Amino acid sequence: MTTDPVVLGIETSCDETGVGIVRGRTLLVDAVASSVEEHARFGGVVPEVASRAHLDAMVPTVERALRDSGLALADVDAVAVTSGPGLAGALLVGVAAAKALALALDVPIYGVNHLAAHVAVDVLEHGPLPEPTMALLVSGGHSSLLLVPDVTSDVRPLGATVDDAAGEAFDKVARLLGLPFPGGPHIDREARSGSSVAIAFPRGLTTGRDLERHRFDFSFSGLKTAVARWVQAKERSGEPVPVADVAASFQEAVVDVLTRKAVAACREHGVDHLLVGGGVAANSRLRALAQQRCEAAGIELRVPRPGLCTDNGAMVAAMGAELVLKGRAPSALDLPSDSSMPVQLVHS
Ligand code: KG4
Ligand code: ZN
Repeated sequence: MTTDPVVLGIETSCDETGVGIVRGRTLLVDAVASSVEEHARFGGVVPEVASRAHLDAMVPTVERALRDSGLALADVDAVAVTSGPGLAGALLVGVAAAKALALALDVPIYGVNHLAAHVAVDVLEHGPLPEPTMALLVSGGHSSLLLVPDVTSDVRPLGATVDDAAGEAFDKVARLLGLPFPGGPHIDREARSGSSVAIAFPRGLTTGRDLERHRFDFSFSGLKTAVARWVQAKERSGEPVPVADVAASFQEAVVDVLTRKAVAACREHGVDHLLVGGGVAANSRLRALAQQRCEAAGIELRVPRPGLCTDNGAMVAAMGAELVLKGRAPSALDLPSDSSMPVQLVHS
């Protein structure tokens, strides 16, 4: 294998069928087919619908990735696939497809952790990851603060949500406000014309005893309930709900806690690079406040562009390439998928 391996990555942990191809740390193609519209009327991702959509989309998405990259299957040096965490049935589709490709091409297969891949993807945009890096991952399925001395071998969870994921909170509050699913981008847009200080919503796990026990954990379900109560009271009084102000004040409560804890974790662990990833990293206020607080603390902020923050195959390919470049052993061809794969297990 050359020093710059061509790695094809497959992602099917949730509702995106992603097939990305990288050469070393260079992105060649990122093909994504999303079933998000099939879930919209349910207000959340329906696992069985997602699995079936992956089955339909897998072969066409692989074909599209190859066509758009101008590569042939024979050019692929290794296959990487998300083996967990994620929806069990959805993961199985990707893992089965990756095994078939690896077997047919006689190339190594790497089962990778979805969260580690959200971190590794940034090498495609900003080059090699500083070691250590602090990573704040926020999406519809996860909210984690990770200390990452080496993304290919050493990822340490410092904290996570104790209830809803950050994106889930955005989606639920959007629903309360009558905005479409997924709600994050709609809240983001509404918030631009609202006031972030109009309503004082609670900041979960930020005071006293909570902070002692949950230094770097997050909680968003109390916030969601507070927003629901506030909106219901407004409706009962017959007054119009000021959607933009609610959106802006809610959003501020989320991003305030996320950025405060992320910067505190960097300080406490002496880390001067913070990476923010996952779908919620597309949030304009999160990006702005993270930038402001990192600058004030002398921390360099890395945020991949929004297309690389949401689930995609390029992140899996990037993680696979990092494993190859660091000489990590490939997975066995009978590697399992693991819907609750712990983040410390960066590859299987
Ligand atoms: O990473 P992702 O595509 O899928 C998961 O792994 O969950 O993240 C999707 C989540 C959704 O909850 C969506 O509402 C949220 O990311 N999201 C946003 C924004 N764009 C997407 N949340 C806040 N602001 C945004 N601009
Ligand atoms: Zn994700």
